[in-house]
Amino acid sequence: MRPICIIVPMTEVKISVPEHVTVIMDGNGRWAKLRGQERLYGHKEGVESVRACTEFAVEKGIKYLSVFAFSEENWDRPVEEIEGLMQLMLMAITKETPLFQKNGIRFRVIGDFSRLSDKLRGEIDDCMKLTEDNTNLQLIIFLSYSGKWDIVQAANKVVEKKLQAGEIPQVTAQELHANLSTADIPDPDLLIRTSGEQRISNYMLWQTAYTEYYFTEVLWPDFRKTEFQKALDAYAKRERRFGKV
Ligand code: IPE
Ligand code: IPE
Ligand code: MG
Repeated sequence: MRPICIIVPMTEVKISVPEHVTVIMDGNGRWAKLRGQERLYGHKEGVESVRACTEFAVEKGIKYLSVFAFSEENWDRPVEEIEGLMQLMLMAITKETPLFQKNGIRFRVIGDFSRLSDKLRGEIDDCMKLTEDNTNLQLIIFLSYSGKWDIVQAANKVVEKKLQAGEIPQVTAQELHANLSTADIPDPDLLIRTSGEQRISNYMLWQTAYTEYYFTEVLWPDFRKTEFQKALDAYAKRERRFGKV
């Protein structure tokens, strides 16, 4: 008897789910204004979008979801808005911590903590410690962060170490990368910016060298699962070459 030969067509397997998605969450103020409300109303709704996108990221098997929540330049906003945003951050962390634990989410905050209140810093530290062994998803909040600040602090760290070791204080790209505040996080595969703006606004300048960009007119408080899926679909169609042919 002749052996039965089954030919299974080999389709090209392409891993199209990004490992690290980062978002410049923009448009909260405009979203509120459109509804005749104060800017903080939009920021509050924006927290709901973070929750929805976090859930969706877990569903999709994304390992890192990072969001730009407050830039170094945002410290120049009116003091009421800054205080409102910091208060919102504090409340969101307190409220969400049990859910992070339940869903295996590691919570992290990256940025210049020196300008944050002791209370907020304490809450952040507690939540980061409590969730540090969770492995389903890392949710990373960039708070009081700027790309230039990160590069400068990394360069200073390298120089300091070299001077202490009596070496010439020259910095290589590898050393700089290893001293960024994101050193243990893979560079973003996909960067989403909402609200129609098409700029980096001093976000992760170094880490986005080969990131795919996705811009949408949708304002951040309206960016939920359907919009997130559209961004992932666009990403899946991209061909990443990293300078090669
Ligand atoms: C993004 O929304 C959130 C932060 C920068 C804190 P905005 O507050 O920038 O909203 P728009 O851009 O003014 O609409
Ligand atoms: C970028 O948004 C910063 C954050 C989303 C935290 P901005 O609203 O501050 O950026 P610009 O001023 O429009 O560039
Ligand atoms: Mg804005």
